[in-house]
Amino acid sequence: MNDFIHAIPKAELHIHIEGTLEPELMFELAVKNGIALPFKSIDDARQAYNFSDLQSFLDIYYQGADVLINEDDFYQLTWSYLQKAAAQNVRHTEIFFDPQTHTARGVKFETVAQGIHRALKDAGQKLNLSSKLIMCFLRHLNAAEAMDTLEAALPFQKLIAAVGLDSSELGNPPEKFMAVFDRARKKGFKVVAHAGEEGPPDYIWQALNLLKAERIDHGVRCLEDTALVEHLVKTQIPLTVCPLSNVKLRVFDDMKQHNLKRMLDLGLCVTVNSDDPAYFGGYIEENFQALQTALKLDHQDIFKLARNAFQASFLSLTEKEKHLDELEQFVYGFGEQ
Ligand code: ADE
Ligand code: ZN
Repeated sequence: MNDFIHAIPKAELHIHIEGTLEPELMFELAVKNGIALPFKSIDDARQAYNFSDLQSFLDIYYQGADVLINEDDFYQLTWSYLQKAAAQNVRHTEIFFDPQTHTARGVKFETVAQGIHRALKDAGQKLNLSSKLIMCFLRHLNAAEAMDTLEAALPFQKLIAAVGLDSSELGNPPEKFMAVFDRARKKGFKVVAHAGEEGPPDYIWQALNLLKAERIDHGVRCLEDTALVEHLVKTQIPLTVCPLSNVKLRVFDDMKQHNLKRMLDLGLCVTVNSDDPAYFGGYIEENFQALQTALKLDHQDIFKLARNAFQASFLSLTEKEKHLDELEQFVYGFGEQ
């Protein structure tokens, strides 16, 4: 089963590039850029990655991102992730970035976007790994700041496929960002939003009805609302679930309590993703493995999850077909062995 999980072609749709910053690179960049870190050593940093909820994680995550200053730093961060993803047979990835985390420290929007983009382009050429970029607004900041960020992004629009919404969910409902998402949609951006991670099912409804989200990031609390589940099954709006993240941030007490198998069996379009792998103890393959062991997923479940991810991506129909064909051939070939 582990070989199957490793080798199956995968797409990853929920990954924060700042959440792929491993302590080794964090320390290297801190020294290079003369930034003081709140950790004494790499081990000390890993020890501190013990979270009680989303906010306790975000506090540490934003501090870590302070070491990213130059375009090359963003390149190196992204390239490191892409190499790991390619080694786990990820064929396509849709990456979040949080421009406000950097522009608030005086780093230019352009520095962030170009550094990430250059690595994505190299991965297309050297790693057989395609990608899209999703710009997230920080929901703990106000709507006017999100609108300013959207304006700053417009000159780089050809690098960015979609907008999203992340950071502290409770108390920051999607409705707060209706105007900025309206404008983003009019400008031609696709739309996703984190909802129903810690927040109630009503936040998922708001993301769908008010922001017109085409995908929901996390969404695990949807099971508390039968009408919502019915709607999500009917529309096949994808839910990008992040199992190790959910356990690390105490959305579920342990992996055995995770509701992903129930979601799958209800016919929801769920996918498996790593969210912030440097902080949560694993990349996409480790997420699949942890889930499979805890929930006793079978080969069909893994196949379905991999299939859902390509279908839920923002790739063109032709590109999706190509990946789905490769996936089917892989599964067929694996059965023959
Ligand atoms: N930013 C990075 N990871 C996040 C998560 N799991 N939820 C909300 N915002 C985030
Ligand atoms: Zn996330």
